[in-house]
Amino acid sequence: MSFATLAHERYSCRAFDPDLPVAADELAALLDVVRAAPTAKNLQPFHAWVFQDPEDLEKIRSCTPCHYGAPLLVLFGADEGQAFVRSDDGLNFAQVDAAIVATHYMLAATDLGLDTCWVGLIDVARVHELFPQTAGHTLVGLFPTGHALEGKGGPSERHTLRKPLDEIVSQ
Ligand SMILES: Cc1cc2nc3c(=O)[nH]c(=O)nc-3n(C[C@H](O)[C@H](O)[C@H](O)COP(=O)(O)O)c2cc1C
Repeated sequence: MSFATLAHERYSCRAFDPDLPVAADELAALLDVVRAAPTAKNLQPFHAWVFQDPEDLEKIRSCTPCHYGAPLLVLFGADEGQAFVRSDDGLNFAQVDAAIVATHYMLAATDLGLDTCWVGLIDVARVHELFPQTAGHTLVGLFPTGHALEGKGGPSERHTLRKPLDEIVSQ
């Protein structure tokens, strides 16, 4: 699949088949791509937390209405304390970096034939309470990951709605 095809084929999946897990070698491949992502000054100011055992899954699912029954959830956090800060205007690149990393994860999942959804709707305080290891991180995205539930897990109407090119690009 070309990258352009992959970018168009990816969509937000909102219903996962609970009986189709993500294989260990698929997860390893996803995390390898995460590691390859570029970050400002290569400072890698992010962390990813993988939730797949039943106890963790139950806890993380209680932090969002958007877990969609996925058998694997991966959370990405940005650590502002480790990031490059642009001196001109003070921009801290941690969230930019973590978003790049998370995008690598999301597109790599599509490449492997897996489905995901970028979920920002998280009860952040509850995540920090239930998973103290996430302290000090800005939580940029939680990714339910797995295989779409047949007949229910397809793209929403919003998937094809994009602004016209001349509205988003000046050339
Ligand atoms: C930063 C970000 C946060 C998002 N948060 C949520 C969310 O909390 N719940 C959800 O169902 N979808 C969420 N989405 C998915 C978007 O709604 C979706 O990408 C958009 O509607 C376009 O549809 P598509 O991904 O199917 O192309 C989020 C996407 C992004 C990039």
